[in-house]
Amino acid sequence: MSVFDVAVWKNGQVCMLDQRLLPHQEVYLTFDSAVEVADAIRSMVVRGAPAIGCATAFGVAVEAKRLVAQGVPRSWTEAMEPGLKALRESRPTAVNLAWALERMKPLLLSVPAQSVPERLLAEAEAIRLEDIESCRTMGRLGAEILPHPEGRPLSIMTHCNAGALATAGYGTALGVIRAAKDLLKNIKVYANETRPYLQGARLTAWELLKDNIDTTLLTDGMAGHIMSQGLIDVVVVGTDRIAANGDVANKIGTYTLAVLAKRHGIPFIVAGPLSTIDLNTPDGSGIPIEERSPDEVTHCMGQRSAPEGVGVRNPAFDVTPAELVTAIVTEKGVVMGPTTEKIQKLFE
Ligand code: MRU
Repeated sequence: MSVFDVAVWKNGQVCMLDQRLLPHQEVYLTFDSAVEVADAIRSMVVRGAPAIGCATAFGVAVEAKRLVAQGVPRSWTEAMEPGLKALRESRPTAVNLAWALERMKPLLLSVPAQSVPERLLAEAEAIRLEDIESCRTMGRLGAEILPHPEGRPLSIMTHCNAGALATAGYGTALGVIRAAKDLLKNIKVYANETRPYLQGARLTAWELLKDNIDTTLLTDGMAGHIMSQGLIDVVVVGTDRIAANGDVANKIGTYTLAVLAKRHGIPFIVAGPLSTIDLNTPDGSGIPIEERSPDEVTHCMGQRSAPEGVGVRNPAFDVTPAELVTAIVTEKGVVMGPTTEKIQKLFE
């Protein structure tokens, strides 16, 4: 499998592959403060819920290192607050960001105070390694519940990028696809391009082709037609936040796919780690949906593609109600037909 440094610690800095330049260039950037990492998250150097969580954790660690270079602060919590705030506010939908901050925060009270940066870095590295492990487990568990057609390739549709590029490695939805390839050998992927930011075309197609997985690119509007022709056995997507009742926030267009999948009797599977489940949000109506710049909609490849003055909406995510979700695959097990009770059980 191809391995990318999506968000890692290298030579005392946070190092991240600049995903804005893919698939044309593989450029790595380095970051020395939480504010720099927050800017990188906001501007999509790094994206994808678990990857944002890892970047956040390393952002906290690098901020502590930066502060120590100016002398150990008397109050870590106070000294860190501007950096933590920048990270907290960088992107609103993926709950992994807040999850990572919550996990790092208690370590600010470590004793002795000098050990704070070291403890934060160890925790960030633990988050990264756990994420890879979770993705591998989700891959295995997810592949086991996929349909196994006789005498022809299993055909999977995916949306956005929920791959190695969106996690610390291996991927959630693409982890299931990778494991399916190992298990069944013969698979075929339909990747939706994912307007307006083209994560499907730029990232998923690039990642899957690197792994020699048979991949066909569709524009988003083609999904229903392809399903109606009987060409899709299963839809597998990632998620940015799962509410306590199993409602799923994911890249804009996911809800449309779930409705279409229901119409055509196609199983709709969501893969996401426990760090993406938000028990504090009872249902999808409470999930904040990021609204991004209108320029992403009015422009394509740097060129204006819509007239000046047109009204534009650019919600980056949508919510798929739990009733449309066949299964949620986590590292703690698969939840068939998600409900509040079944999701709660994963945490017991
Ligand atoms: O805006 P992005 O690229 O951060 O959106 C990413 C997605 O919607 C992914 O499907 C989701 O984060 C799952 S990643 C394993």
